[in-house]
Amino acid sequence: MSTSSQTVTVNTEKVKIFDTTLRDGEQSPGCSMNLEEKLKVAAVLEELNVDIIEAGFPIASNGDFEAVAAIAKQAQKATIAGLARASKKDIDRAWEAVKHAKSSRIHTFLSTSPLHMKFKLQKEPDVVHQMVVDSVTHARNLCDDVEWSAEDGSRTEHEFLCRCVESAIKAGATTINIPDTVGYAVPEEYAALIEMLFNKVPNIDKATISVHCHNDLGLAVANSLAAVEAGARQIECTINGIGERAGNASLEEIVMAMQVRGDVMPYHTDLDATVITKASRTLSGVTGFTVQPNKAIVGANAFAHESGIHQDGMLKNAETYEIMTPASVGLVESNLVLGKHSGRAAFKNKLAELGFDDLGANSLDDAFVRFKDLADHKKEVFDEDLIALVDDSALRQNDHIKFKSVQIVCGSEGPQTADLTITIDGEEKRCKSEGNGPVDAIFKAIKEMVPQNARMQLYQVHAVTGGTDAQAEVTVRLEEDGKTVNGQGADHDTLVASARAYINALNKLIVKREKTAPEAMTA
Ligand code: KIV
Ligand code: ZN
Repeated sequence: MSTSSQTVTVNTEKVKIFDTTLRDGEQSPGCSMNLEEKLKVAAVLEELNVDIIEAGFPIASNGDFEAVAAIAKQAQKATIAGLARASKKDIDRAWEAVKHAKSSRIHTFLSTSPLHMKFKLQKEPDVVHQMVVDSVTHARNLCDDVEWSAEDGSRTEHEFLCRCVESAIKAGATTINIPDTVGYAVPEEYAALIEMLFNKVPNIDKATISVHCHNDLGLAVANSLAAVEAGARQIECTINGIGERAGNASLEEIVMAMQVRGDVMPYHTDLDATVITKASRTLSGVTGFTVQPNKAIVGANAFAHESGIHQDGMLKNAETYEIMTPASVGLVESNLVLGKHSGRAAFKNKLAELGFDDLGANSLDDAFVRFKDLADHKKEVFDEDLIALVDDSALRQNDHIKFKSVQIVCGSEGPQTADLTITIDGEEKRCKSEGNGPVDAIFKAIKEMVPQNARMQLYQVHAVTGGTDAQAEVTVRLEEDGKTVNGQGADHDTLVASARAYINALNKLIVKREKTAPEAMTA
């Protein structure tokens, strides 16, 4: 048995990757993203070469609509999908957003399980069936590429599922998705369900069968791969496995399982696996959702070998303990990059090498000033430092509230005080506040100048690199009326990073307040 991660993919069947990080992923608490962040994630998804990007739920809010439309305009090769419930209004709104893409898809869904029909929809099966026909027909009149999903498909009665699938295909659906919405299925059973559809639905060959698995029992990836064995040729998944509750099937695990075990799974995706690490880090940076260290493929320990026996084996032959190379998922040694004497041109070149070749002049200026400041305080500046710093500068360009400066008095003898200056829509404001520790003092000063009742759910500090002079990346999660946002801040000074993170979260809250969720949006 070969353990090479470069499995040859000729003559194997292709499985399409439908990425729903920006829709199902973004629905998970604390994972909401603003427009710039969504565009950034969408750009990395295109670099990964996913087939379909589900960019959002356009009817959910004006912000969601605008984000889907902007992603549709930005996309170069991926098909852009927008989600819609089974109503004309939803479908029209989804079409208005995705129609700008070179290749567009309307993804409409309706619950089909007895439980959902009775309690959620409060409709009889015949009515639900007619809604499937009407919604798919309407979508197909607008767009040639229509996906229909049977929400809670894995808990739907087989006969009714077959009836709905057959009618959806007749009405024009080109992809049929059978979600395991509540993560209840187990691999054999789920594969049997897909096989049953292939055996019983007469027009099944007219559509691509897709699977969409949630991870409540930790089986989302296993269920998705089992379904491929049974004939599914599209998998819906997310970067880092983010998504509702325990998340969705993790894209990186699916792609690498197929790549590494091509010997037993004769399928391939068109993804460039060497972009996986970048995609994972981009998403973590944007959402503040750090990946658990032992997470397969993208966790910090996924390629670390701690024990002496393993290290010894690795030195003799890496294949003793490594089934894929770090390089195959784009994990490379971090580089010492620039020093405090590096000029603007070298800085710009280095950023281009790291993939930041489209920074506007303002972001570049801001990042350069901050790089010089960082180089003054930190002996060695690494790739990761630059990425954190540029992310931080670029994501703040449209913020209403901006950090300007802070002076802190702290130590074992209180009181701790923060003297903070910010700007709100360009107007400078200053406040001095006392607190229970310096972070508390900063947050109180911010609250004084920007009054609100948001509850802090998380305050987290992460060191970008090793060493006591490492940059701090701070995440602050705020919750207001059931809406959650994550703010980020990076700086060589943890307290400055904390102020930036809190202010970033408030800016996101302002955007989020404008969003109004539609009733019964349970996808
Ligand atoms: O989990 C689910 O059923 C969904 C559908 C909308 C596809 O997210
Ligand atoms: Zn889902």
